[in-house]
Amino acid sequence: MKALVTGGGGFVGSNLALTLEQNGHKVIVLDDFSNGNKEHLIDFKGEVISESINSVDLDRFQDVDVVFHCAAITDTTVRDEKLMMLVNFDGSKRLLEFAIANNKKFIYSSSAAVYGDASVSIKEDMAGKPKNIYGVSKWEFDCFAMKYMKDAHIVGLRYFNVFGPRESHKGKMASMLWQLALQMLEGKRPRVFKLGEQKRDQVYVKDVVKANILGIEAKKSAIVNVGSGRAITFNHIIKVLNEVLEIKLEPDYFDNPYENAYQNYTQADLTMAKDVMEYIPEWSFEDAVQDYMKEQGII
Ligand SMILES: NC(=O)c1ccc[n+]([C@@H]2O[C@H](COP(=O)([O-])OP(=O)(O)OC[C@H]3O[C@@H](n4cnc5c(N)ncnc54)[C@H](O)[C@@H]3O)[C@@H](O)[C@H]2O)c1
Repeated sequence: MKALVTGGGGFVGSNLALTLEQNGHKVIVLDDFSNGNKEHLIDFKGEVISESINSVDLDRFQDVDVVFHCAAITDTTVRDEKLMMLVNFDGSKRLLEFAIANNKKFIYSSSAAVYGDASVSIKEDMAGKPKNIYGVSKWEFDCFAMKYMKDAHIVGLRYFNVFGPRESHKGKMASMLWQLALQMLEGKRPRVFKLGEQKRDQVYVKDVVKANILGIEAKKSAIVNVGSGRAITFNHIIKVLNEVLEIKLEPDYFDNPYENAYQNYTQADLTMAKDVMEYIPEWSFEDAVQDYMKEQGII
């Protein structure tokens, strides 16, 4: 199989490109490196095209079988609606139309940001209440993609909170887990919003990569949740980090400045992901943190 991975210089995309290559596939990475990091691709042998999804000549990809579309503006605090839509909607639409016209499978990264506040396990039909422009861009593209699902192989993957190797370039947009780990490794008390009882579904990037690969053989086109299926409090993240890093630092609570635009509870219902493509997460949160810190050379 020959695959195109857009956003392949970024967090999810680089992990996916490297795994596909390790599995014996030919892979092309397309990334404008507005946010990714070429260092993630040091071990990558395939072609890397440093161009934008909005302007690259798509005819270059006539020989690929599958498009894995991960490229996006991923800074959820960006307020420039025009820019957000240009990349996350127009760029995605351009790639999807190319995939449909040329009979390529299209697996793309959506987001749990399409959901609003929840107090129960989130099912796919609860989407449509995004709390920021980023979530709107993801939701509008989901709606666009849905129109073509009968006639093409299209799988949208709504990731929850992803963490794992190759995310450090994301700075303040890196996972909560990574940001807390960095603070704790400096001997600082981990700072979290009051009172650390917000619950989020934290999914390891290796499970996200697996979901993308399972998307190739999905029984039908669909948009499915990709999470761990478990909601974890910020306090629990700190507890696990203390155990894995063998330190003992108490949380330092502060007021949440994004109160109105913040999801206080997310937990993926994975029924549809299992039905459509047999996705079952392999990593428990605790094992994943251990594995991640080992890969970083921290433990
Ligand atoms: N990491 C998460 O927790 C998470 C959660 C939900 C959804 N997602 C989605 O997963 C995908 C990957 O996110 P990530 O965490 O790897 O973020 P990332 O920022 O590390 O990766 C995105 C990549 O897209 C590239 N890019 C941006 N604009 C581009 C353009 N116009 N042309 C080509 N490349 C461009 C960036 O340079 C970057 O390398 C995104 O679609 C994101 O919305 C991520």
